[in-house]
Amino acid sequence: MQILIEEIYPFFKSAFQYLDLEEEILQNLLSAATKEGHADVALPCHSLSKILKKSPIQISLELSDLISDELNQIAEVSSMNGFVNVRASDAWLSEKLIKITTNKRLGISIDDSRRFVVDYSAPNVAKEMHVGHLRSTVIGDSIVRMLLFKGHTVFRENHIGDWGTPFGMLIEHLLDVGEHEAANELNVGDLDGFYKEARSKFNLSEDFAKRSRNRVVLLQSGDEETIRLWEILVSESMRYFNEVYSMLNVLLIDSDIKGESFYHNLLPVVIDRLNKSKLLVESEGADVVYPDKKWMNREGKIMPMIIRKGDGGYNYSATDLACIIDRSERLQCTDFLYVVGTPQKQHFEMVFDIAKMAKLIDNKHTAVHVNFGSVLNQDGKILKSREGNVIKLVDLLLESISRAEDTIKLKNPNLSYKERIKVAKMIGIGAVKYADLSTERTKDYIFDWDKMLSFEGNTSPYLQYAHARICSIFAKSPISRIEITDVKFMITEKEERLLARRLLIFANVLDEAIETYSPHRLCNYLHSLAASFASFYENCPVLKAPNADIRASRLALCDLTAKTLNLGLDLLGINSPEEM
Ligand code: ARG
Repeated sequence: MQILIEEIYPFFKSAFQYLDLEEEILQNLLSAATKEGHADVALPCHSLSKILKKSPIQISLELSDLISDELNQIAEVSSMNGFVNVRASDAWLSEKLIKITTNKRLGISIDDSRRFVVDYSAPNVAKEMHVGHLRSTVIGDSIVRMLLFKGHTVFRENHIGDWGTPFGMLIEHLLDVGEHEAANELNVGDLDGFYKEARSKFNLSEDFAKRSRNRVVLLQSGDEETIRLWEILVSESMRYFNEVYSMLNVLLIDSDIKGESFYHNLLPVVIDRLNKSKLLVESEGADVVYPDKKWMNREGKIMPMIIRKGDGGYNYSATDLACIIDRSERLQCTDFLYVVGTPQKQHFEMVFDIAKMAKLIDNKHTAVHVNFGSVLNQDGKILKSREGNVIKLVDLLLESISRAEDTIKLKNPNLSYKERIKVAKMIGIGAVKYADLSTERTKDYIFDWDKMLSFEGNTSPYLQYAHARICSIFAKSPISRIEITDVKFMITEKEERLLARRLLIFANVLDEAIETYSPHRLCNYLHSLAASFASFYENCPVLKAPNADIRASRLALCDLTAKTLNLGLDLLGINSPEEM
């Protein structure tokens, strides 16, 4: 419990001074107790034994003696097996709870503001968004929300794939199909069909391939008519992507689109910079850079990063270097996050390495590949539709909403039709997002409807239900939620203690989730909070509490739990209905 550590630290510091022990040792040793319940904070004395020439048990006894009186108001101090154990007092818990209950931010501090770019979602024009893009969108969006809440400046960048050689064939196919027809196909989300047809013509017809190649040249040179056709492809695909974004309720908007084409004009600058730093070399006709760190290909040869191909076309890597220049120089950002799947790990390592070598970034910058694993089906294979195609995300989300609606119909038949539709969206979308966010991002996870939509376990419906349940307590309560201001918490039962402790570590958990760009930590926390609320509610009558003071205190615990769940879910980009 970090807030307790901060509070008791000065007392330990004086005790350490008294024993002639260095403060650094204290900093390393004093930490949250590993087992909840036993103690909140512990100090193992075993490593002090050598320095003080006494047994750990003796030392822990001595230290406890030195501080226990002084910590009297804050915590109970005891010694056991060479550990000094500190356990927050009920009075201290109450006092801290009051502080966060009366605070709009629930006690969450604002950090020194840094300037972030979060590169996320990034589907490819005229190609179906796959579940990987769904992961990127959902994880990236939650990271953005957390950073914003902590007071940082955040630029969202949707680095869509909207440039390069495939656009020659896509434009030619568009002409063959007819502009109107093509636009229709794209904006209903039949992106994969469109792409596949173009690709197969390209492979089968020499004439089509030739037209496509010419078209790429026209596109690169900015030919007006070609750009107009290209814009149809982009805007119709974006219309479909936006439909997915709006269903998902993510923050991304059109002005966040900074696709590959956006960086096109910076590509010669990349070449220039790499030349100036004497990094660019020729290899088999291409312009390449050898990163400081060595990567080997299958034949055991050192692998360069290709910046410009032999035919003059720029590579994906060139665009990513251009992004770095733009983000650091124009946007003046210091922190670059790339929420992209693990398969691109090597790409980003190489890009970051080269960016450092070319001094596009230096020590004040951090560039992080916030990588993530795959979404698998029940057989452990990459999730695909029954026909083996990429799953259409809109269909997936609609199915989730409809499944959620079926469940609500059973659970709460009295809900009006309008409410049911609204709640079904919140639950259905929340379930898909949460299933993704609650898995440690670097791991793969199995897409499982029953599990993600279950009202039990570490799921979004479970958390949403806990929140709605608290709202329903207040619907029956004589005291309303806004009336809970200067309440006195009375923490006396063990379930109250556990709930109080969990409520108090929210700020800390959030910091950890942000530091490691790991929304799953926030998920796990919210789940443990909801679970401790459930056992509190089962064992400690709220509206039927033994007296008015206890009732007020318990209602305040309910209120703070609901606020924490609400804020936590909000930071994950998930709604909390008040009724469900
Ligand atoms: N469009 C790419 C893909 O679908 C992802 C782009 C990620 N961002 C970046 N700056 N490279 O794989």
